[in-house]
Amino acid sequence: MLTQVLKLINYLPPEFTYKTSHALIRSGIVNYHSRGIEMPIEVNGKLLKNPLGLGAGIDKDGFLASRITSAGIGFITIGSITLKPRLGNPKPRIVKYPGLKAMVNAMGLPSRGFVDFVSRLPSILNRLRRLRTYVIISLAGFSIGEFMYMLNKLRGYGVDAVELNISSPTYRGSWISDREYLGELLRGVEAFPGTLFVKLPLGVDIEFYRWVMNMAGKRGFGLTIANTLPTKEPGISVGYGGLSGYPIYQLLSR
Ligand SMILES: Cc1cc2nc3c(=O)[nH]c(=O)nc-3n(C[C@H](O)[C@H](O)[C@H](O)COP(=O)(O)O)c2cc1C
Repeated sequence: MLTQVLKLINYLPPEFTYKTSHALIRSGIVNYHSRGIEMPIEVNGKLLKNPLGLGAGIDKDGFLASRITSAGIGFITIGSITLKPRLGNPKPRIVKYPGLKAMVNAMGLPSRGFVDFVSRLPSILNRLRRLRTYVIISLAGFSIGEFMYMLNKLRGYGVDAVELNISSPTYRGSWISDREYLGELLRGVEAFPGTLFVKLPLGVDIEFYRWVMNMAGKRGFGLTIANTLPTKEPGISVGYGGLSGYPIYQLLSR
């Protein structure tokens, strides 16, 4: 019965379900408490209680983190957070393909902005510490300066890791197509004292992956595989978006 109801949710307007589920989780009406599976793994010297976690994009501003992680997951990625507040793209910005277990989104990196986020960060971290959750903060910058500014400001807060989102379809390729620019960013962030992950794009040439793996490997950065696959989508206001779900899982498991 519950499975049938959950399947029906797929056919409701996506922005409605996105917003409603956020409100329900945030209010605590929907709350699932579990200690989670004990299946410890080590990430750069820190122990996670298990390797299950949440990628960036669901809890963009950190309002859901403690509710979601009380379900017992080992890590959560909050963000992507942008330096300035952003509303994101006009609606419609999500199209679902329930039959394919897939969706295309072009949220356009909506964010309440870095200043607002940082003002709430100590209390977010406090709550997540009690749940023994590994916390990754995803940053999205529109220039090297923006990334560096946010990264430097995060020093001293005690986040477990920072993820550099260089692969959002919203950038329309700027980080990925210009290796000089991306190389400068990756060299620039080397001095950050904490764990760094670089979130890889999908659908780019193999030479790019070789190059970025080499750059990240030399500097001890982790890789997050992967962001959504950029695709045309006439059902979305801006005409394109990023594909996620089962089709990209199939692509990665080949
Ligand atoms: C609605 C939505 C919003 C997302 N927002 C972000 C984001 O802000 N930053 C980011 O790095 N990835 C974002 N992603 C990408 C996911 O973190 C993930 O990399 C992608 O969906 C592929 O994994 P999946 O097929 O398991 O969903 C978003 C994905 C979705 C569906």
